[in-house]
Amino acid sequence: MRYVCSVCGYIYDEGREKQAFSELPDSWRCPVCKAAKAVFVPESGGNEPKAAAAPVRSEAAEAAKSAGISQVETPLAGGPSSAGEGLVKLSAGELSALCSNLARGCEKQYREHEAALFRELADYFAAVTPAVPDADTAGLAALLQQDLEEGYPAVNAAADAAGDRGTKRVCVWGERVTNMLSSLLAQYQQEGEALLADTEIWVCTVCGFTYVGDNPPELCPVCKVPAWKFEKMEGRDSA
Ligand SMILES: [Fe+2]
Repeated sequence: MRYVCSVCGYIYDEGREKQAFSELPDSWRCPVCKAAKAVFVPESGGNEPKAAAAPVRSEAAEAAKSAGISQVETPLAGGPSSAGEGLVKLSAGELSALCSNLARGCEKQYREHEAALFRELADYFAAVTPAVPDADTAGLAALLQQDLEEGYPAVNAAADAAGDRGTKRVCVWGERVTNMLSSLLAQYQQEGEALLADTEIWVCTVCGFTYVGDNPPELCPVCKVPAWKFEKMEGRDSA
């Protein structure tokens, strides 16, 4: 019998592990995304294990609600009517992230000059981004939740309308990574720094999948690139 993690798709194979899933302790976690044992579902022939009931996500939504966060401004929520209009509405922080991604895209195409210009822009926008007052994990969880509920469906619909298969693929990766981040954050909200003590944080430089462990996974579970594409997050605060 095999059980599938409804957050990341990891499969627990009882035959291979030589231990029944039911015998695992309740504290057992998905080795890939650290989701709780409770989010695993029995494998049903051929079905994509895509976020079943996702109890972790609703927990995050509840936390956001109790923190009083009901609405966060997003440029995509209303559906972009044109690329130009969408860009006007982006905040400095979003522009910084966008330029940083474009810099990476240029690097991949060996466009060093353009990459340097985008990095400069990203640094500029980051420097003028105002600090978020009362920033906390509940607010971050709410933003991730909003991406899952509104952002990705909006981008997916726009990509559908434009027949843009590349963007749709990026959406699939992005949604999975966001789902896993949401799960990891919920875990952090429960366990605090103990979750990250004596271990490392690795981020896939291709898709953004974030992994907590001593070494990066052999293959990224989202975009399937090898371990050397993972970057270790340096200089973490221990606060
Ligand atoms: Fe990846």
